[in-house]
Amino acid sequence: MRWVGGDGDPACGVWVLGRDPGEVEERVGKPFQGPAGDLLNKVLAAAGWHRSQVYVDNVVGVRPPNNKWEAHAEADIERGIAAYRERLELHRPRLVIALGNEALRTACGVDPRDGKALPGIQDARGYLWDSPLGGRVIGASHPAGILREWVPWRALLELDLKKAAKEFRAGCPPLPNRAVTVLTEPHEVAAFRGAIKDAPLLSLDIENTAERTLSCLGVAASTDHAFVIPATHDWQLALIREGCESKVPKVFQNGMYDRYFLRARCGIEVRNHTFDTILAWHCLQPELAGKALDKR
Ligand code: URA
Repeated sequence: MRWVGGDGDPACGVWVLGRDPGEVEERVGKPFQGPAGDLLNKVLAAAGWHRSQVYVDNVVGVRPPNNKWEAHAEADIERGIAAYRERLELHRPRLVIALGNEALRTACGVDPRDGKALPGIQDARGYLWDSPLGGRVIGASHPAGILREWVPWRALLELDLKKAAKEFRAGCPPLPNRAVTVLTEPHEVAAFRGAIKDAPLLSLDIENTAERTLSCLGVAASTDHAFVIPATHDWQLALIREGCESKVPKVFQNGMYDRYFLRARCGIEVRNHTFDTILAWHCLQPELAGKALDKR
């Protein structure tokens, strides 16, 4: 079994991290050489990078039996994590593009075997993280996974790499500090009202319980501060109603569901739902929307 090392100059500032080598990579002795490598090179190019401008490596340098992550020897995973951290310490890349779950966990300083440490890559992709190990991290779908699936995730991989390139060119500026206030005391209502009073737009989202009762409403009037109003006490329900029925234009993600739920279950009528992110997404990327129906 051959340990496949990194490809490129680790001092270049941008790292691309995969999981482990496949058959072709093992034969050639470099990461991302087969079909997944071809796709990676293409999306890198679409983002304005030639492969030689980035450093490409894997969490674990050996190919696992049957290409199954779970089949790795523990010692190989330990060796991979230690080697990654050592290299990181030495070269301090400004940005790590982590492809897939195991790479994202490793880059974010958690154990790549811990499936609960972070959301799965389909939820976590496209977000920027400050790694406790230092440097900025962006998660993206793994090219090999994309090639296996019928959903055209490639469009999202391309978008994520373009975002990565933009972030890198901008020098990876500090991430905004984001705050969430959970309104559990009536005296906090004034802060909420103050925040939404002159807001040009409110972003709303509900959560419901498994029993289909309202659990809470999330409300953001800016990009850096969100409120959560649990639907427990009467004063909280009144506040949820106040937020939903206010005249301020509102953005939802799949608000058709939220509005139906609020109307049917709580008698709350949402006013001025002017934009919906899921509808916008489906319009802008119809190739990704509603693909589940294609199977019928
Ligand atoms: N997948 C990976 O994660 N790494 C490779 O090198 C090839 C495929």
